[in-house]
Formats: sequence, C-alpha cells, structure tokens
Amino acid sequence: MVCLGNICRSPLAEGVMQHLADKHSLDWQIDSAGTGGWHVGEGPDRRSVRAAHNNGIDISRQICRKFSKRDFDEFDLIFVMDKSNYADVLAMAPNQEAAAKVRLLLGDKEVPDPYYDDTQFQPVFEMIEEGCKDIVKQFKSNTN
Ligand code: 4NP
Repeated sequence: MVCLGNICRSPLAEGVMQHLADKHSLDWQIDSAGTGGWHVGEGPDRRSVRAAHNNGIDISRQICRKFSKRDFDEFDLIFVMDKSNYADVLAMAPNQEAAAKVRLLLGDKEVPDPYYDDTQFQPVFEMIEEGCKDIVKQFKSNTN
C-alpha cells in the first residue's frame, strides 16, 4: 500500500488490509510505504490513528518508510492511492513485470490526500475499506 507520505492513507490501507486478511485467515504479507521520505521513522498521523481506532483497528505501531525498488521483488501487487503515486511508483519499475504489479487501490478512482482536511479521514477510511474488501473478493479464492 503506497501513498505520498506514508503517514495518512497507506497506513490506513495497511491496517485495514491486515485486519481483513486476519479475519479471512489469509496468509498475505502486507506492508505500506511512501514515495516521499519526509516522515521516515515516524508513526502514522494521529488523525489516521484515530480514524482507524474509531473503526476497531490499531495502526499506532506502524513506522513510516520510503518505497524502494526492492519492493517490486518483495511483493506481488502494489496498490497506490492516487495517480500521482501511480506515476511515481511506475517511474521506479525496473521492467514490465514490475510495472504490471502497480494498481490504483480503487481501480479507476483516487483516494484523496486528507492531510490538509481533518474532516476527510473517516471518508478516506471508508474508501480504503471498500478497496481492501474488493481485493479480498478478487484474490481470496486464488490463494485459499
Ligand atoms: P499521505 O498524506 O500521502 O496520505 O501520507 C501526506 C502526508 C504528508 C505529506 C504529504 C502527504 N507531506 O508532504 O508531508
């Protein structure tokens, strides 16, 4: 799960995806990262921690890291939040196989950056939850 800062959206996506994977007994390796490195080593934004907590999910122990080219080897799928993330991640893809792993979490829609608007964290949570539920629907039968 990749966004720009790895403190607002992608930590929520990691938390929701892990929560759903646990619920469905899916042995998936789930992680998140940001294309920008400003917050590396920090925990998630407290507004994301609160939004997750309000929905029964604890993301408070996540640590921000920067997306790396090695992630293309480590992961089968790389979900990005918006088209800008998509372009940034795609630009790092070493080959076609790696590029094909990159998808928008919501298919054709974007998860907007809530950083400058406190009211957007719950709506963003809900968008991310929908996207993650679709991932379970799409891939569960292929892995179990
Ligand atoms: P995120 O939001 O990409 O959802 O984590 C942002 C958080 C911080 C910054 C940008 C986006 N920033 O520029 O510090």
